[in-house]
Amino acid sequence: MRLGILTGGGDCPGLNAVLRAVARRAEALGGEVVGFLNAWHGVRDDRWVVLDTRATRGILPRGGTILSTSRGGPFDGIGSPDLVRDRLSAGGLDGLIVVGGNGSLTVAERLYREHGLPIVGVPKTIDNDVEGTDATFGFATAVQIATDAIDRLHSTSESHDRVMIAEVMGRDTGWIAAHAGLAGGAAVILVPERPYSIARIAAALHARHHGGRFSSVIVVAEGAQAEYPVAEGAHAAGAAVADALRQAIGFECRVVVLGHLQRGGTPVAADRLLATRMGTAAVDFARGGLFGHMTALRGTAIEAVPLVSCTGRTKMLDLSAFANIATTTWG
Ligand code: F6P
Repeated sequence: MRLGILTGGGDCPGLNAVLRAVARRAEALGGEVVGFLNAWHGVRDDRWVVLDTRATRGILPRGGTILSTSRGGPFDGIGSPDLVRDRLSAGGLDGLIVVGGNGSLTVAERLYREHGLPIVGVPKTIDNDVEGTDATFGFATAVQIATDAIDRLHSTSESHDRVMIAEVMGRDTGWIAAHAGLAGGAAVILVPERPYSIARIAAALHARHHGGRFSSVIVVAEGAQAEYPVAEGAHAAGAAVADALRQAIGFECRVVVLGHLQRGGTPVAADRLLATRMGTAAVDFARGGLFGHMTALRGTAIEAVPLVSCTGRTKMLDLSAFANIATTTWG
């Protein structure tokens, strides 16, 4: 068995743990693995490295991906599906493992369905928004980083009687905002799944601050939108909320954009474990000819889920699951 692997899309903590697991599992089964560099660019340009135990030694705790990554693929100008087929056959590859988020998994699904290529998917993203799996690795680390930041914001906001607004990642979904906001005790959490009302937030802050609290932390997902436009011009989500609240209630509002801090650095233990389990399973799927599927966490098990049932959709936050939790205001 000879397998190829690539990491596509934005990076996230745990990618190296997958590469290590894939290399070791394949080796244990008498197989070999090559890793394409810089996602589909490496496939197009025939640039790859051998991934074995020696090449993956010591990378388990490292953030990023030793293969490098980028967006785009064979359907939008980086090579072509035919070139991918040629590369697999010239390299004697029995399968290609694509580690990616919604974009890369959609490419993987099309290569399998439209071109019959032997592809196995492994879902990854800090956003946790891939349909079909209960969780993606990278998410737990991002939530921990955001929670640590919120903890720090509490103490400085209390010292200065300020409203601190933490903008976290999440273009389409509020998984990081919801989990970190609840874990960090945020007073208000704003997510893309529910348009927010500045009037409702202002009322909640008023009640808090006149009831003896003199500081509040608001967590805003980068994709959160107001029910009605709240600020003129192009504003990032956190800045828009800050401007609107300053006007509405006059409190001092400061903004911290956590950005790529949430994607960098060492993965927490839960992400290393999930990535390792998924990498191991991906090799087993390929060995068993289970192509067109991705590894998925279902309950406590890693299962094979058809890519076609997961791509083209986004796993949204179920806000009803958070109903009546603590005293958080959801916009
Ligand atoms: O999809 C992961 C993610 O980190 C999103 O949360 C974020 O909006 C986006 O990637 C940022 O991408 P880039 O690093 O390409 O700007």
